[in-house]
Amino acid sequence: MDNKTLIEKAKQAMTYAYAPYSHFQVGAALLAKDGRVFTGCNVENATYGATICAERTAVTKAVSEGVQEFEKIAIVASSGDYAAPCGICRQILFEFMPEGEVVLWSDTAGEKAFSVSDLLPFGFRGEDIK
Ligand code: THU
Repeated sequence: MDNKTLIEKAKQAMTYAYAPYSHFQVGAALLAKDGRVFTGCNVENATYGATICAERTAVTKAVSEGVQEFEKIAIVASSGDYAAPCGICRQILFEFMPEGEVVLWSDTAGEKAFSVSDLLPFGFRGEDIK
């Protein structure tokens, strides 16, 4: 699937964002190696700290349906500018797609892609638990 199609799916997912506190809507579309796409949006909470990011919503949806291998994830935000994944989401992406790609979108500058390992160099791996 090309990046444009994945970005469109992320934009659709963004419309479901629950962001009454920040008013910053985020959408994500995660492409699995089997070709399936899992979307996610941010889901905020009155406690703030219980907020779930769009990327983690997408990964959690996929894993809870038995899918664990991914190629890339597209992320869009209501600001219309690039929305870089937060540190926790980088670690989550590193767990399931250490060789994957993150595609960001800006309404004015277009798409920009990063490898997960560029976004999280020397990330903590399961193999490090000894
Ligand atoms: N947010 C995401 O959904 N993904 C990120 O990687 C960055 C932040 C959300 C969390 C919160 O609902 C809002 O953006 C403002 O931080």
